[in-house]
Amino acid sequence: VTKDGTRQFSLTMQAGRTELLPGRPTATWGFNGPFLGPTVRAKRGDRVAMRVHNKLGEPSTVHWHGMRLPAAMDGGPHQMIEPGGTWTPRWTIDQPAATSWYHPHPHGTTAAHVYRGLAGLFLLDDPATAALGLPSTYGVDDVPLVLQDKILDPNGVLLEDPKPTWGLIGDQILVNGVHDPFFEVTTTLVRLRILNGSSARMYHVEFADRRRFHVIGTDAGLLAAPVPVERVQLSPGERLEILVEFAPRDQVVLRSVAGDNGIDEGDYDLLKFVAADRLTPRPPVPGRLAATPRIEVPADARERRFRLSGSDEINGREMDMARIDEVVPAGATEIWHVENTVYAHNFHIHEVAFEVLDIDGQQPPAYLRGPKDTVFVPGKSTVRLAVQFGHFTDPKTPYMYHCHILRHEDKGMMGQFVIV
Ligand code: C2O
Ligand code: CU
Ligand code: CU
Repeated sequence: VTKDGTRQFSLTMQAGRTELLPGRPTATWGFNGPFLGPTVRAKRGDRVAMRVHNKLGEPSTVHWHGMRLPAAMDGGPHQMIEPGGTWTPRWTIDQPAATSWYHPHPHGTTAAHVYRGLAGLFLLDDPATAALGLPSTYGVDDVPLVLQDKILDPNGVLLEDPKPTWGLIGDQILVNGVHDPFFEVTTTLVRLRILNGSSARMYHVEFADRRRFHVIGTDAGLLAAPVPVERVQLSPGERLEILVEFAPRDQVVLRSVAGDNGIDEGDYDLLKFVAADRLTPRPPVPGRLAATPRIEVPADARERRFRLSGSDEINGREMDMARIDEVVPAGATEIWHVENTVYAHNFHIHEVAFEVLDIDGQQPPAYLRGPKDTVFVPGKSTVRLAVQFGHFTDPKTPYMYHCHILRHEDKGMMGQFVIV
């Protein structure tokens, strides 16, 4: 923290080696270390100043996924950092508490850069929600889970041969970069912040004993009230916060079960929980949460249509860095229709918060009715979103919207909008 109260963070993108499989070090990339990156944390009202240094030997960027900020600070494909170069964005945090993240976004090579290990969490706190008393001791009862899949050969070499349609989708699952992990539970209630940090894989997450748990937050903030569920789904880029109750000496596996979307084949154990003999009591799951105000859609809201086809097009066109696809007035609330004409995709919009109005005319499950920035779009379906845009104007610097299956994003299933 500097004299004027600015919080400074320094992130260096670098190559290294990590034992992803025991005894067989893998060549990987990370921020400030060989794999993944530090959890960055700031609260509403904080001024943050980033110093991002690129020691990779090739150009990249760092995008703050979920952050509401000026386009020039967004870290998309227009904010390239050359090898040896440093980028110093700064902005003021002005959004509700949420689990957001950061990752590279160089056009055409995002999948490879993220897959090699460049990703980290960016947790946002809000004094207004602190009073809820949610578990908040990092690593003890407030635990991030970054879910990723890799293709590793028997020597531990990270393979980058893209599979048809989906690209990098593997059968070795890592949680926070750890293979076959476990977590020692020491409290009666644990908050898990789950990020799907995979390139393409989708997860259907449940406990092996089918215990119920509560979803408290979606990508961009808390729900109005906790929603009890037995299973949740996360497509690439999505986050969920959940509360799970434990009894002394509980042992239970968190797993992902197969689905039929093409990007969710196979059953996988994610993480084993082992509870201590005595657990420190925590307050029970609250009845209500500090609701992020719902997005109100004016009757004359502008509607825009986006048609996903193949694996590289939106509205029949590939991404063009020199073309602005949409111009949105500052502070607008709009309805975006995302029509998927083919197999599974998803849709992420930079800068905004949105709510999912419906999926093929049906309301989304209750646990997805919170503020979001990324949504799964099942094959041959249409998702309608109520999108709330921010107030940072810049007619020259665009934000992105795209499929977060990173091969699709790289191939051009992405468009650009400016806020004016
Ligand atoms: Cu997480 Cu445009 O990305
Ligand atoms: Cu983003
Ligand atoms: Cu896609």
